[in-house]
Amino acid sequence: MADGSTGGAGRLRLHVKTYGCQMNVYDSERMAAALAPLGYESADAADDADVVLLNTCHIREKAAEKVYSEIGRLKALKAARPGMVIGVAGCVAQAEGAEMLDRAPAIDLVVGPQAYHRLPAMLARVARGERPVEADFPAEDKFDHLPEDARPRRAPAAFLTVQEGCDKFCAFCVVPYTRGAEVSRPVARILAEAEALVARGVREITLLGQNVNAYHGADGGRELGLAGLVRRLAAIDGLERIRYTTSHPNDMRDDLIAAHAEVAKLMPYLHLPVQAGSDRVLRAMNRKHTAEDYLRLVERIRAARPDIALSGDFIVGFPGETEADFQATLDLVGAVGYAHAYSFKYSPRPGTPAAARAQVPEAEKADRLARLQARLAASQAAFQAATVGRVLPVLVEKPGRMPGQVAGRSPYLQAVHFAGEPALIGSIVPVRIVEAGNNSLAGEVAL
Ligand code: 5AD
Ligand code: SF4
Repeated sequence: MADGSTGGAGRLRLHVKTYGCQMNVYDSERMAAALAPLGYESADAADDADVVLLNTCHIREKAAEKVYSEIGRLKALKAARPGMVIGVAGCVAQAEGAEMLDRAPAIDLVVGPQAYHRLPAMLARVARGERPVEADFPAEDKFDHLPEDARPRRAPAAFLTVQEGCDKFCAFCVVPYTRGAEVSRPVARILAEAEALVARGVREITLLGQNVNAYHGADGGRELGLAGLVRRLAAIDGLERIRYTTSHPNDMRDDLIAAHAEVAKLMPYLHLPVQAGSDRVLRAMNRKHTAEDYLRLVERIRAARPDIALSGDFIVGFPGETEADFQATLDLVGAVGYAHAYSFKYSPRPGTPAAARAQVPEAEKADRLARLQARLAASQAAFQAATVGRVLPVLVEKPGRMPGQVAGRSPYLQAVHFAGEPALIGSIVPVRIVEAGNNSLAGEVAL
C-alpha cells in the first residue's frame, strides 16, 4: 500500500525513473526526500517497487508517447502486484494534467514540478481510491516544504535550484509553458541550503535554473543578481567549487563576467547555448541576439577568464533553416571552439509558435545533425587533448570503473579517472593528465 500504514514498517520501496535535464535529476531527489519520512526507500528497479514515479521531460522528442509506452510496460507489473502505485511527474505531467488519467487507466496520480511536497498527501488519497492530480502553478513557495533532515545523503557535488521557469519564449521551447514564469528563490534560503549541504560534506555546488543567469533573488529589501549570489556563496568555508547552469546570452551581465575573473571558487566552465549561427534563424527563434552579439560576448568572457571551457546547445533543421543558414552554425562552432556541446534536431512541440510553421524534411535534419556533431566532436577532442600534460585539481566524486580507481571532475567539468583509494572521495587532488579520451581523461596523482 502506498500510505505507509501497511506493507511492513519502513520497508516501502520507491522507484523514480528520471528523464531529461539536471533539474529533473534534482527533482527526483526531492521526491525521494519528500517520501522518505513515510518510510520509502529507493528501489533500483520498478519490479519490486510499491510506488513508481516517472519523472518526465517534455523538451524534445515525443515525450508523452514515450511515457505512455513505459506505462504500458508498468501495467503488466501492476497486474501482478495489486496495490502498486504508478505516478507521472515532471513536465509531461504539468503539460497534460488530468488528461493522462483518461488515456492511461493504470496511472494513479499526476504531479507537476510545483507540487512534489504534496506527494505524501497524494499517496494517502490514492490509498483511499482517488486518482489525484496536482499540476497547477501555486503561488506559495514550494521550496519551503522539504524537511531539511529528510534529504538524501549527498555526494561531494550537489545541485541547488536557485531559479525556475523562463520568460524568454524561444519559438521552439515548451519551458515557459510547462515550468511557468521565471521565479528566483530568496538569497537567505539558498545560503542556508548551501550551508547545510556543505555541513554534510558537499564541496561543489551547481546552481540550477532554466535561465539561471537571470537570477534576481530577494535579499532583505533589495535584490541580488547571480554574480552577487556567487560571491556570497564563495564566502562559505568548506565550499570549494561553484558552477551554474543554464545561461542565456542576453542575461550575461558584466558583473557576472567579472566574477569569472575574480572569484576563484567559480569554475571555468560555462554552458551558454546559442542554438544557431544564422541571424535569420535566430530571429525566427525569437532569441533576441545575433551571432555577432554572441561572439562578442564570448570574447568578453574569455578576456575575463582566458581558459574558460564553453559549452552550448544547438538546434538544426529549425523551420526555414536553409543550407546557408546551417553553414553559419558551422562557422560559429569553428569561431568559438567549444569544449562540449549538445545538439538536437528540431522537434515541433505542440503549442509553441514554431510547431505550426513549414518544417525542414527529416532527412535534411538528420544530415545536418551528423555534420554538426562531427564538427563539435572534433572541437571537444581538441579541448580534451589540450589538457594532456597539465596538472588539474580534481574533485573526487566516486569509485572508478576499475578496482583501485577513483573518478572525479576537473575544473572544466571533464570526467577524470586515476589510481586512488575510495578514501579520497570528497577531496580535491592534483592530477597530471596523461591521456585524453572523447569523454574522459586518465591521469595520475601529482604530488
Ligand atoms: N527541438 C529541439 N531541441 C530543443 N531544445 C529545446 N526545445 C527544443 C525543440 N523543440 C533544446 C535547446 C535547449 C535544450 C535544453 O534543448 O537547444 O537549449
Ligand atoms: Fe526555452 Fe531556454 Fe529559450 Fe527559455 S531561454 S524559452 S528555457 S530555450
